[in-house]
Amino acid sequence: MDKILILDFGGQYNQLIARRVRECHVYCEVRPCTMSMDEIRVFDPLGIIFTGGPGSVYEDGAPQTDPAVFSLGVPILGICYGCQLLAHRLGGQVTPAQSDAAREYGKTETGFRTDSPLFRGLPESGVTWMSHGDYMARVPDGFRVIARSAACPNAAIADEDRRFYGVQFHPEVRHTEHGTEMLRHFLFDVCGAAGDWSMESFRSRAVRELREKIGSGRVLLALSGGVDSSVCAALLSEAVGKQLTCVFVDHGLLRQDEGDQVEAAFADRKLNFIRVNAADRFLSRLAGVTDPETKRKIIGEEFIRVFEAESRALGKMDYLAQGTIYPDVIESGLGSAAVIKSHHNVGGLPDHVDFREILEPLRLLFKDEVRQLGRELGLPEALVNRQPFPGPGLAIRVIGPVTKEKLRTLREADAIFREEMAAAGCASAASQYFAVLTNLRSVGVMGDGRSYDRAVALRAVQTEDFMTADWVRLPYELLDRVSVRIVNEVPGVNRVLYDITGKPPATVEYE
Ligand code: XMP
Repeated sequence: MDKILILDFGGQYNQLIARRVRECHVYCEVRPCTMSMDEIRVFDPLGIIFTGGPGSVYEDGAPQTDPAVFSLGVPILGICYGCQLLAHRLGGQVTPAQSDAAREYGKTETGFRTDSPLFRGLPESGVTWMSHGDYMARVPDGFRVIARSAACPNAAIADEDRRFYGVQFHPEVRHTEHGTEMLRHFLFDVCGAAGDWSMESFRSRAVRELREKIGSGRVLLALSGGVDSSVCAALLSEAVGKQLTCVFVDHGLLRQDEGDQVEAAFADRKLNFIRVNAADRFLSRLAGVTDPETKRKIIGEEFIRVFEAESRALGKMDYLAQGTIYPDVIESGLGSAAVIKSHHNVGGLPDHVDFREILEPLRLLFKDEVRQLGRELGLPEALVNRQPFPGPGLAIRVIGPVTKEKLRTLREADAIFREEMAAAGCASAASQYFAVLTNLRSVGVMGDGRSYDRAVALRAVQTEDFMTADWVRLPYELLDRVSVRIVNEVPGVNRVLYDITGKPPATVEYE
């Protein structure tokens, strides 16, 4: 199988590069730039991409890679910092930009030498996305300049004999016109990739490898009903059938009918499916709790307890499977950001249960690839396309203490919102949308009487990565329909609000 190695120098776009390469049906992995030559040889890359990074190549302590990488005979594409590193290590000169004008940030008009394989067939000029304060003052011997901008005469360089390319700009970012085509040129024309990596090939390979590894062992999986654990279950079921036991802890904090839908999705598959209805347990531990972080903690702990009790009853298990996916695995090299909420995975590992190994069959897939694999495995579209849903579930969408009655109210309102979003064809316009039961009670008038009831807030956000998000401009007619239906159909609600706050300053969830 063709493999591209992406050596990470701490750039913010490292995952984006990987996604673009995979979109071209070429397999790739992101590894730290400190990867040893032995490991690189074992990886056996068809080509290597150096990512960008925040450092300056000429400074002490700047991220480096073993220079022996240049003698492997493998094509290299350096991006931004990666390009400067290539120049720096191969005899060129990189300096801080001499004038402000030579520092480039954002969209930059750039001219290309279209006789270079990297730019062949593309327009001779176009917009690229730049983000650099350093500058390649001298191009190394053997290289020629293949792109320039007004501020930067050396915007891209190439040593076509050795198949080394460097670009100052970011072809992986959408703002760079024809960026994906440039990457395609590198992958197909320079490296000679076949472009035959697909979810179909991943599936058959993964099934084969899982069978070999698991043998006659037993596998336990905590199924949440989310995309990742569901796809993980379907894949393992295909590999080892009844050797797989899935424990689905229904904490009673799921959306309308969701527990039954999860159960139905696995009804005809070859696996042992155990549904634990633990709603009462969770609710009694949550009684009177208002603090969001305490709610999360309680739910996380209780989840582990229920799961432990179930796994103990099941007897010896050899493997514990988890639906970890690639973005959780790639280390960003930039350190971790401040913790605003203690998400993201309710649960964790039960500590006393003793497994031979943890299986993470999706650990090299991006989210969209996991969804594709789910489709490939025949999971229903509603499950595969399920929007993200927090582990603590509706407990963090009922503001203040959670009760059965409030959960019922929220479920009904949320179901109406989702139904109308789908009917209006607006579901794909939002990355996530849901109703929240606020702790606001207000006066209303219903018929001839006065009401003093609850307010439901609706939230719909669009986001690439959930770090920032914008609220979706839903049509007024749709909002009107949802509001009228909720107030008429859901007892105890007399007011509907639409949230028009982005993240930041708000977060996606209310708690
Ligand atoms: P926030 O509210 O932090 O949400 O802007 C960003 C994304 O994370 C989800 N989220 C959670 N997921 N456990 C989870 O598994 C949690 O405690 C949790 N809190 C928020 C949220 O739904 C959104 O997709």
